[in-house]
Amino acid sequence: MSSYLLREIDLKDIIVLGIETSCDDTSIAVVDSNFHIYSNIISSQVIHKKFGGVVPELASREHIKGIIPIMDIALKRAKLSLDKIDAIAVSTNPGLIGSLLVGLSFAKGLAYSMGKPLISVNHILGHVFANFLEHPEIEFPFIALIVSGGHTELVNFSSFDNFEVIGRTVDDAAGEAFDKIGKLLKLSFPGGPEIDNLAKNGDKHAISFPLPMIKQANYDFSFSGLKTSAALYIQDNNIDLSSENLYNFAASFQNSIVQVLFKKTISAIKENNIKTFLLAGGVAANSELRKIFDDYANEHNLNVFYPSQELCTDNAAMIACVGIFKYKKKQFADLNINGSSIKGIN
Ligand code: KG4
Ligand code: ZN
Repeated sequence: MSSYLLREIDLKDIIVLGIETSCDDTSIAVVDSNFHIYSNIISSQVIHKKFGGVVPELASREHIKGIIPIMDIALKRAKLSLDKIDAIAVSTNPGLIGSLLVGLSFAKGLAYSMGKPLISVNHILGHVFANFLEHPEIEFPFIALIVSGGHTELVNFSSFDNFEVIGRTVDDAAGEAFDKIGKLLKLSFPGGPEIDNLAKNGDKHAISFPLPMIKQANYDFSFSGLKTSAALYIQDNNIDLSSENLYNFAASFQNSIVQVLFKKTISAIKENNIKTFLLAGGVAANSELRKIFDDYANEHNLNVFYPSQELCTDNAAMIACVGIFKYKKKQFADLNINGSSIKGIN
């Protein structure tokens, strides 16, 4: 990620080493207190591809193999030695517990041996604050739509540590729906980016899929019914990689997810009289989702932010970014802290 090496490190800044191992990406980053990224090395584990999903035990083992070499590369890219690091920030929840524990144990060892603070970071909060790495000008309050492989949440932020979850999925996450349908279509894993690409050549109005919970007066989501309806369509119409209808299918399925996410987020923004909203998590990389929010923000003179493609999906720079906020507030963790797979933002 040499594109991030924009300037020499100013050692007056606080420098945080971020560690992310919550799922199938081993990532280590060096970020300073002005949100400058000096390195953000992401190693995505290919071993899972042949299983069509992440195998937790294999993920932990790959993290163990990768973590030290990846830290070495991250420090080398940042032209920095470990003793210049002021704090270690690590994802501690939610995620695959074995994977989290690899990163956490490594982070504890580093913090203890260097005598530097350990900072515990909620991975979902990391996705939201990834936005600050490219847009440090973002101001509170804002509403964040978090859409990842395991989470779909609408969160109202008054400040960094004062926020309220106002809606969430009652079953599957948006990314999960993309990935499960991708698997039925035999696309490569994860299915989200593949469906996004196919959809570009399709007509989103060709097939009318349900728009789950769109009319309900709350901010909750549900994607499992839509997933079942799309799965039945695939079966009944023999949709596969060679069918002409594949593109229309992808565009229409994606459109249902995007419409529901959009409508619910917009009503939350209106009702709370919020002028700024953020998209976060892997599904925020979706081109149709970005476009619909961009168009709305332009028309209504609102501010919408989303991270660049690379910072949307799992990465350690976003973990270091939350680490910076917590460092400034001296929110440090004990060395006996544990990881947790319990879902949600905290
Ligand atoms: O945030 P993330 O990297 O990992 C989790 O914390 O879950 O999100 C991964 C999810 C996967 O479900 C993947 O299919 C989805 O993000 N995703 C996309 C796109 N890029 C990644 N979904 C739709 N369109 C995309 N372009
Ligand atoms: Zn994630």
